Amino acid sequence: MENKRNYVIDFDSTFTQVEALDILGEISLNGDKNKSEKLEELKSLTDRGMEGGLSFRESLVQRLKLLNAKKEHLQPLIDTLKTRISTSFVRNEAFFIENKEDIYIISNGFKEFIIPIVQELGLKADHVFANDFVFDEADNIISFNKDNVLSSNNGKVEQLKSMDLQGDVYVIGDGYTDYEIKAAGLANKFYAFTENVERDSVLQKADHITPSLDEFLYMHKMNKAISYPKNRIKVMLLENIHPDALKMLKNEGYNVSIYTGAMDEEELSEKIKDVSVLGIRSKTQLTKKVLDNANRLIAVGAFCIGTNQIDLEECLKKGVAVFNAPYSNTRSVVELAIGEIILLMRNLPDKISKMHDGNWDKSASNSFEIRGKKLGIVGYGNIGSQLSILAEAIGFDVYYYDLVEKLALGNATKCNSLEELLKNSDIVSLHVDGRKENKDLISEKQFKQMKKGVIFLNLSRGHVVEIEALQQNIESGKVRGAGIDVFPEEPKTNNDTFQSPLRNLPNVILTPHIGGSTEEAQVNIGNFVPGKIIDYINTGGTTNSVNFPNLQLPILENAHRLIHIHLNRPGIIAKINKILAAHDINIVGQYLKTNETIGYVITDIDKAYNTEVVKELKKIEHTIKFRVLY
Ligand SMILES: NC(=O)c1ccc[n+]([C@@H]2O[C@H](COP(=O)([O-])OP(=O)(O)OC[C@H]3O[C@@H](n4cnc5c(N)ncnc54)[C@H](O)[C@@H]3O)[C@@H](O)[C@H]2O)c1
Repeated sequence: MENKRNYVIDFDSTFTQVEALDILGEISLNGDKNKSEKLEELKSLTDRGMEGGLSFRESLVQRLKLLNAKKEHLQPLIDTLKTRISTSFVRNEAFFIENKEDIYIISNGFKEFIIPIVQELGLKADHVFANDFVFDEADNIISFNKDNVLSSNNGKVEQLKSMDLQGDVYVIGDGYTDYEIKAAGLANKFYAFTENVERDSVLQKADHITPSLDEFLYMHKMNKAISYPKNRIKVMLLENIHPDALKMLKNEGYNVSIYTGAMDEEELSEKIKDVSVLGIRSKTQLTKKVLDNANRLIAVGAFCIGTNQIDLEECLKKGVAVFNAPYSNTRSVVELAIGEIILLMRNLPDKISKMHDGNWDKSASNSFEIRGKKLGIVGYGNIGSQLSILAEAIGFDVYYYDLVEKLALGNATKCNSLEELLKNSDIVSLHVDGRKENKDLISEKQFKQMKKGVIFLNLSRGHVVEIEALQQNIESGKVRGAGIDVFPEEPKTNNDTFQSPLRNLPNVILTPHIGGSTEEAQVNIGNFVPGKIIDYINTGGTTNSVNFPNLQLPILENAHRLIHIHLNRPGIIAKINKILAAHDINIVGQYLKTNETIGYVITDIDKAYNTEVVKELKKIEHTIKFRVLY
């Protein structure tokens, strides 16, 4: 017979996402002019206590002194904590309700706020073992009950000893004191819970690292909240991807690991073996060799705009969907373009540089307002069209030219040819894509068509402009000012020198391909890409995938969804349906989209499937990947 199981769970940063005393500090120190320094100190004391660097009691004494808290601060603290219960705990409420007799919260925090929070998930007040505050007559929190064993240095161990739990004991927590229970021989296993914080010294001591409660429940065959184990979905993020992305993917219950740098082909080929989702930026090359090792890979997130670093066709052949963030930095590029146009119209690059050399050159000659000037936008895509709107709002007269038919926004005027646009515009700004036909789109012939004294901007792609032609036209004065962010050859790293014939020319702004590089764009990318990946995993939806046929799918209720990816050959959908019919399975919805390489079929069925059906579907000739969603 299986042993009875007892679950000992920590509170701060495990049951909740935060340290309660940090939040109490936010509340009690409101109005204190040294609030931010005190909060920093509070955090450092907490961490040192957690990691074992400072004795627990000493850390507590010092923290309470700093807090200067009162009884009236406790209710707002409780209200905040209720909203900050760990996501995987909330998701698995059923586990708490069903096992409440065997779950104990053992914490060095305080009962006054722990009990109301754990009761939210159905736990029992008398299963909470924690400290208690001592108040003075004016309801100030002045100390803690020193007789409570949990206020002493080895408190959790002593508490467990006195409880004498029968059966197996599993400890889940993020702190060193949680590990100490196991070290004292009072628990079978210690699970380091990393959903909210990761402490190296604690991870080293853990029997298992548990990125979410789902992982723990899965290991003990108790997961109910999700019908397929999301925690088995291993996500690997490289190249310092924004923390928002990490948070979103962790909140979904995936098992996420992060690396700050890129990996070379060899290392990646090794590390990718058990990875389901890979997140990269522009430095990691996802080659055929790497993909040949990626047996579990289902999706790649390119946390950037370009996808040249990824062998998209090979991904397709292996049934790996690739997502990127094509629009996340459009606004950033547009703002820079507008800023540069204004600077160039006022001849500011030269004026600024003269000032730095000590030369005072006060004059209005050759300085112009942008109001009423003709801005010619070449390429009316995401960036071009947004520039059109913003530019018009500040007084430009906007013209645009695009290869494909595009509706004019606002009062913009469409040009029927590039030549027409170039002849008319006071300012020419390029926003075309990087297709190879666009090489040298602007060369001597096009500069000839432009007005004398034109302002010229390229924030699109380097090879679109013939750089020597631009150089000559700046030198001749035909181009009165230029803003260039992209170059035919760009340094590979920040340590390489930038070589270009455009250096040191008059009234020229040169920038190191940073048109889209802003903090906001990084946040947008960090949110956009995980959203697409989560949607793909949860519904099979491929909207905006770079390589997969794009399908937008409804969220399913009371049905099962089968996802079949195959080489694009005739008759496969008929084979799928034949197998389902043979098993008397009714199809409630079916979606198909193909491209030249693959076919992507989603079939929703209203009846439980058995392993036999799944086996047969997988066996269909030309199947690349098969996945059951619910
Ligand atoms: N500087 C940066 O940091 C930065 C950041 C983001 C994007 N970009 C670049 O900006 C450019 C525009 O990006 P986007 O998101 O707006 O792209 P997009 O694909 O939405 O728009 C490009 C538009 O250009 C049109 N086009 C292509 N070739 C043309 C041609 N020869 N003549 C006229 N129109 C043509 C297309 O039809 C399309 O409408 C891209 O080259 C992109 O790589 C640069």
